[in-house]
Amino acid sequence: MDKFIIKGGTRLEGSIKISGSKNCSLALMASVLLAPGKYKIINTPDLRDVSTMSLLLENMGAKVDFSQNLLTIDTTGVNSYEAPYEHVKKMRASFYVLGPLLARFGRAKVSLPGGCAWGPRPVDLHIKAMQKLGAIISIEKGYVIAKTKKLKGNLIHFDISSVGATGNALMAATLAKGTTVITNAAIEPEITALAEMLVKMGAKIDGIGTTTLTIEGVDELYSCDFENIPDRIESATFLIAAAMTKGKIELNNTNYEHMTAVLTKLEESGCKISYDKKNIYLEMENSPIPTDIITSVYPGIPTDIQAQWTAYMLLAKGTSKITDTIYYDRFKHIPELMRLGADIDLVENTAIVNGGKQLSGAVVMSSDLRGSASLILAGLVAKGTTEVLRIYHIDRGYEKIENKLNSIGANIKRVKTDII
Ligand code: UD1
Repeated sequence: MDKFIIKGGTRLEGSIKISGSKNCSLALMASVLLAPGKYKIINTPDLRDVSTMSLLLENMGAKVDFSQNLLTIDTTGVNSYEAPYEHVKKMRASFYVLGPLLARFGRAKVSLPGGCAWGPRPVDLHIKAMQKLGAIISIEKGYVIAKTKKLKGNLIHFDISSVGATGNALMAATLAKGTTVITNAAIEPEITALAEMLVKMGAKIDGIGTTTLTIEGVDELYSCDFENIPDRIESATFLIAAAMTKGKIELNNTNYEHMTAVLTKLEESGCKISYDKKNIYLEMENSPIPTDIITSVYPGIPTDIQAQWTAYMLLAKGTSKITDTIYYDRFKHIPELMRLGADIDLVENTAIVNGGKQLSGAVVMSSDLRGSASLILAGLVAKGTTEVLRIYHIDRGYEKIENKLNSIGANIKRVKTDII
């Protein structure tokens, strides 16, 4: 197992090329099950979650090749409709295969994901959407068994906006007979990109980018090539890293339009920000001004930067409140940040950060992907050496994070460790 050893106190300055979006890749990779053929997905990040999804597709009979961020998938030989527990437990996004398998083959057997590090994350909305489209669903021995002769278009309203359930319903509806209208659909950029790929495959979808998606089912879809969007969470993480070290950073190959809420908050906290088509520039001279955030669905502040923002606010002289309205229990990083000297009170789903205290290096443990990012950020500014254990979490979602940060001034070493 690997760990990071971080020597804190260095200033970050330079440019970083942003990778393709992890979350979007996983949705695009599931959509290829809708039609046989050869797909090329350009700008795919080299991540553990992408390898997990590749293995799942290979298990089903697809051929997958990955080289230099180009992912090639041939789904001609897909002959299995099962997503086994060993894949789904590693990565919830494996559940994305439910809709495409049902739509194309009329059957699917997908393991229930179970809980995750920060509490229960249900899939009831995914299941209800499939039932609305006419699937017969039973739960047997931890698996969702879904069957249909042919999915039929219907009205689907989501009580809660869900990225995954919207993606699953959207993919399933492309091959259903008749019209499906999805209301309160998620409008995250990853869903918009998925819809655009489906259109390239021959799907008929109106309302892309809005909360109402109207899908006219077609008889057949075709393979295509598609370019993945930049990772807005990786982008936000590096901007926060630079701000924390009173640094100066240029992000290349990114998209500021996907990040206006975060950029506005960074400005509010004292950063100077500018941008052009594919680049974002940030400079920070002072300690941040205490700045509250409340996470919400897109275009609001993503829950996926809540932990990193908490680390950032540790440097602000005063009190700031970080409220997560998407996941009420997503605070496993807080006791670890406290090991570095952070003063944080957790009241229900709000972290109250009493910032401005010098952090000092310690051994800390990653518990989930974004939580581990927050520990690395804190390690960059802590006095002395911070060791971050269980960094397999970070490898799920950040491509070569230590190389990228080291290239602009960080001092992070990846070493093998026996400590689990
Ligand atoms: C996706 C992202 C994840 C991000 C999250 C919220 C991927 C692979 N992952 O996860 O990084 O943190 O969006 O932006 O894209 N819910 C239900 N029932 C369901 C499904 C969801 O109650 O069947 C609830 C969840 O508990 C949560 C909310 O809906 O409170 C939003 O979750 P959702 O958007 O579905 O998250 P994911 O798609 O799993």
